[in-house]
Amino acid sequence: MTDTLVIYYSFTGNSKKVANYVKDKLGADLLELEPKIPFSTDYDEVVAEWQNNDIKRDVEIKDIQTDLSKYQKVVLITCTWWYGISPVMKKFLKDYDLSNKDVIVASCNAGWLGHCFEDYRTLLPNSNIKGELNLVFSEKEGERDKMLTSQKEIDCWMEKIK
Ligand SMILES: Cc1cc2nc3c(=O)[nH]c(=O)nc-3n(C[C@H](O)[C@H](O)[C@H](O)COP(=O)(O)O)c2cc1C
Repeated sequence: MTDTLVIYYSFTGNSKKVANYVKDKLGADLLELEPKIPFSTDYDEVVAEWQNNDIKRDVEIKDIQTDLSKYQKVVLITCTWWYGISPVMKKFLKDYDLSNKDVIVASCNAGWLGHCFEDYRTLLPNSNIKGELNLVFSEKEGERDKMLTSQKEIDCWMEKIK
C-alpha cells in the first residue's frame, strides 16, 4: 500500500506522460481528473474558449471515486491554460480537501507559466507545498509533446516528497 497519490489533468497528453513517470518512480497510485463534458477536440477552439481562465470561472468535473484520506502525500500535475492552472485542476482543488497533506505541484506549459504556482498556493491554503516544478514543453506546432525540462529536474522535484 502506498501513501502517495499522483493527481493530474492533461488535455493533450504531456501532463499524463509525466504523471505516469512519477507514479512509476514513486510506486504511487494515479488519479486522472476529467471534465464532465469533454472539451472540443479542436485545439484552437479550446484556446479561444478559455481566454478568460479566471480563478472564479468553473467547469464541472467528474466525481472522484478515490478515497483521498488514504494518502498523506499528493503530487499535482496539470497543463497551464492562459497563464493559470487548468480549470479542471482548479475545480478539483475547490471541491476536494487536501489540508495537512504534503504536496508537490507542477504545471506543464509552452514557456509561459504565468501565475500557476500562485493559483496552487491560493487553492491549497492548508497544505504543505514542498516543491513546485515548471514543466516546459515545446511551443512549436507539431512538436508540442517535446519536453524541454530535463528528467533530472523532475527527479529532484520528486525527491521533495519522498
Ligand atoms: C486553452 C489552452 C491555453 C494554453 N495556455 C498556455 C499558457 O498560458 N502558457 C503556456 O506556456 N502554454 C499554454 N498552453 C499550452 C499548454 O500548456 C502546453 O502545450 C502543455 O504542455 C500541454 O499539457 P497537456 O498535454 O498535459 O495538456 C495552452 C494550451 C491550451 C489548450
